[in-house]
Amino acid sequence: MALTKFLIGTVGLILLRICDAYNPTTRSISHSTILPGTHDLLPEYDYVVIGGGTSGLTVADRLTENGKYSVLVLERGVFQNTTSVTLVAGGFWGLIDPTLTFNISSAPQEGLNNRRISVIGGILLGGSSGVNGMQVVRGQKEDYDRWGAYFGNKSDWSWDGLLPYFRKAWNFHPPRPELVDQFGIKYDSQYWGNTSHIHASFPTFSWPVLEIEMAAFGDIPGVKYPSDSGAGETGAYWHPASVDPATVLRSFARPGHWDEVEHKRSNYHTLTGQKVLNIKFQGRRARDVVFVPASATDRSRAYSVRAKKEVILAAGSIHTPQILQASGIGPEKLLRDAGIAPVVDAPGVGSNFQDQPFTVAPSFNFSSFPYHPDFYDLLLNQTFIAEAQAQFDIDRTGPMSIASGNCGSWIPLQVVTPRLWSAIAKRYEEQDPAAYLPKGTHKTVVAGYKAQQKALVKSMRSKDSAALNFFLRGGYEEGSIVYLHPTSRGTVHVNRTDPFFSPPVVDYRALSNPTDLEVLLEFTPFTRKYFLETRLKSLDPIELAPGADVTAPEDIEAWLRSVMVPSSFHPIGTAAMLPQSLGGVVDQNLLVYGVEGLSVVDASIMPDLPGSYTQQTVYAVAEKAADLIKSRR
Ligand SMILES: Cc1cc2nc3c(=O)[nH]c(=O)nc-3n(C[C@H](O)[C@H](O)[C@H](O)COP(=O)(O)OP(=O)(O)OC[C@H]3O[C@@H](n4cnc5c(N)ncnc54)[C@H](O)[C@@H]3O)c2cc1C
Ligand SMILES: *[C@@H]1O[C@H](CO)[C@@H](O)[C@H](O)[C@H]1NC(C)=O
Ligand SMILES: *[C@@H]1O[C@H](CO)[C@@H](O)[C@H](O)[C@H]1NC(C)=O
Ligand SMILES: *[C@@H]1O[C@H](CO)[C@@H](O)[C@H](O)[C@H]1NC(C)=O
Ligand SMILES: *[C@@H]1O[C@H](CO)[C@@H](O)[C@H](O)[C@H]1NC(C)=O
Ligand SMILES: *[C@@H]1O[C@H](CO)[C@@H](O)[C@H](O)[C@H]1NC(C)=O
Ligand SMILES: *[C@@H]1O[C@H](CO)[C@@H](O)[C@H](O)[C@H]1NC(C)=O
Ligand SMILES: *[C@@H]1O[C@H](CO)[C@@H](O)[C@H](O)[C@H]1NC(C)=O
Repeated sequence: MALTKFLIGTVGLILLRICDAYNPTTRSISHSTILPGTHDLLPEYDYVVIGGGTSGLTVADRLTENGKYSVLVLERGVFQNTTSVTLVAGGFWGLIDPTLTFNISSAPQEGLNNRRISVIGGILLGGSSGVNGMQVVRGQKEDYDRWGAYFGNKSDWSWDGLLPYFRKAWNFHPPRPELVDQFGIKYDSQYWGNTSHIHASFPTFSWPVLEIEMAAFGDIPGVKYPSDSGAGETGAYWHPASVDPATVLRSFARPGHWDEVEHKRSNYHTLTGQKVLNIKFQGRRARDVVFVPASATDRSRAYSVRAKKEVILAAGSIHTPQILQASGIGPEKLLRDAGIAPVVDAPGVGSNFQDQPFTVAPSFNFSSFPYHPDFYDLLLNQTFIAEAQAQFDIDRTGPMSIASGNCGSWIPLQVVTPRLWSAIAKRYEEQDPAAYLPKGTHKTVVAGYKAQQKALVKSMRSKDSAALNFFLRGGYEEGSIVYLHPTSRGTVHVNRTDPFFSPPVVDYRALSNPTDLEVLLEFTPFTRKYFLETRLKSLDPIELAPGADVTAPEDIEAWLRSVMVPSSFHPIGTAAMLPQSLGGVVDQNLLVYGVEGLSVVDASIMPDLPGSYTQQTVYAVAEKAADLIKSRR
């Protein structure tokens, strides 16, 4: 998460130290049922899963568990179990290891002084769950009810419909009583399960300053403290991290849904280091999946494998639309420009792209800081790092059991700006839905945006839907703020001159909808209120950026345009689950419209963002997807 902005400069040193101390074990691929090569493939499988990431491995695990179906997972990355994957402390080691991620340079962002943004995601067995910040947060009830409401009022895509899948997806381990006492942590296990091999747990220690920082949210009128982070409510709360408490290693899709079954299920094959190019159809039926070694730059080593029942796309929100378009499922004009024969005109594929902007509000430094230790000790204080390491070596407790964070607040727009929320919502409501979408956007995609606009206006007016997330790190410097429901919509399209081998063209279209700027301008006064008008003022907070003298809206705007990053690594929406008349790509059963035997199960099906980070929801959606797929006849 947003940690990187501060960390990348300093971590090199510490990474070396910590890695030395760990002595990670690597493992030969030949020991697993990862197939050594294409010659070991069966000619056909019941299911072929494209992408062995967060959602892909979850679905493949569930489809293979009864032994009735054969499944092949094709993953572009490889098995990686290095310290940068497994290490919990700080929560960002995966992100800064370039062997684990793709890093695509986005289209220049007009709204951001033409800056290009690094588009990052995991490329390894386990996908982005193997590199993410491990924060485990769920959206608000309204988020999931909103998804179902796009299909009318009877959809089981709803809070009530997804809650069983949140329980199935996550094995919750309550915080230790000492931590509960020290910080007043509220939790309620009824929102969680206890069977999954994906774990949600708390560190054994946390930074003392978090107590006053969490309490300070309560000094702002309208901020509540829900009974649990998973209660689907707004407010300030502590939440777990995706850490296995037995080992205090990252818990993610590969150990949780793959390691333990790898030798046991002869019906389950995995082929790593393979990049899927496209899907071939027999008539309208998805049949063959075409792939090449990940390093290939042409088709000379192309191979194909057949799916008897279904091809399941799980390549993530950036690559799933590329594969669909490369397979002839996408906006007709784009396909023609790219020289791809259309199978179905699917205007929604690659539109409706959303992510959550960060670096969108001031950061502050507490100039009176009577707390020790704090977050920065683990980053910069060599004496403290040595102590923390020694403690961790003994019994895997202490500061090194903290990932990237466990608390913060999720704030409704009316609490962010009691003065302007109503006017902002009204102006947004009155917008022509086509006005800020790309020129020539298909009418169904415009209709879909119109439906979202209506629904998002409702969220802007709701006390039960969060607009702003402030996540705390527990240091003398704070200010990590995420904008949860941007109104701008971007695109992910194949490169027209090289659709198969070149990375997709990613355009956030950041700040293209003026409502985003209106909302974001209010994040600055809200953040100043938090630091300067609550109990935190006793710590003599000093504004670092943009600076206390920057108060005119046009000056704050100029600052935002120069620093905002339109992504917190939470891309969604590029193969949206919406009615076809609303530009949807998949239906409520996650089947792609217009063809047979093809589904999408990853983050790209989310029609709009939950008011949270995305991993918790991705796992729940994947659990539901597996049930939907198994129930097809
Ligand atoms: C750096 C980072 C930090 C994050 N921090 C958090 C956090 O703290 N909390 C949170 O809730 N969420 C976080 N997220 C988001 C969360 O991890 C993702 O939303 C989620 O993991 C996405 O799951 P997915 O299944 O959609 O895609 P992924 O898990 O990314 O899986 C896609 C898989 O498909 C593979 N693939 C792609 N193209 C091809 C191809 N052509 N052929 C074969 N395979 C292919 C990829 O290699 C990858 O393994 C973070 C994400 C990142 C990247
Ligand atoms: C991954 O690494 C961890 C920590 O070194 C180790 O305990 C675990 O057994 C490894 N997993 C596999 C599947 O090799
Ligand atoms: C991504 O690439 C850009 C440009 O090369 C680089 O500045 C940035 O540090 C990279 N980010 C990551 C996380 O690798
Ligand atoms: C769903 O129900 C709500 C409230 O009862 C109503 O306002 C809305 O129009 C309904 N939506 C659909 C698509 O039927
Ligand atoms: C797991 O959850 C179930 C259902 O809530 C409960 O009955 C059971 O006692 C729990 N088991 C453990 C070990 O906590
Ligand atoms: C920030 O706060 C810390 C702790 O109080 C202090 O040591 C440091 O000098 C401050 N830095 C700035 C730039 O104000
Ligand atoms: C670094 O940590 C040690 C051990 O906890 C502590 O005694 C010392 O005061 C810290 N140094 C600084 C500069 O904060
Ligand atoms: C598309 O691919 C070509 C050939 O690889 C490359 O030169 C070009 O920069 C790419 N275009 C975009 C917009 O990324």
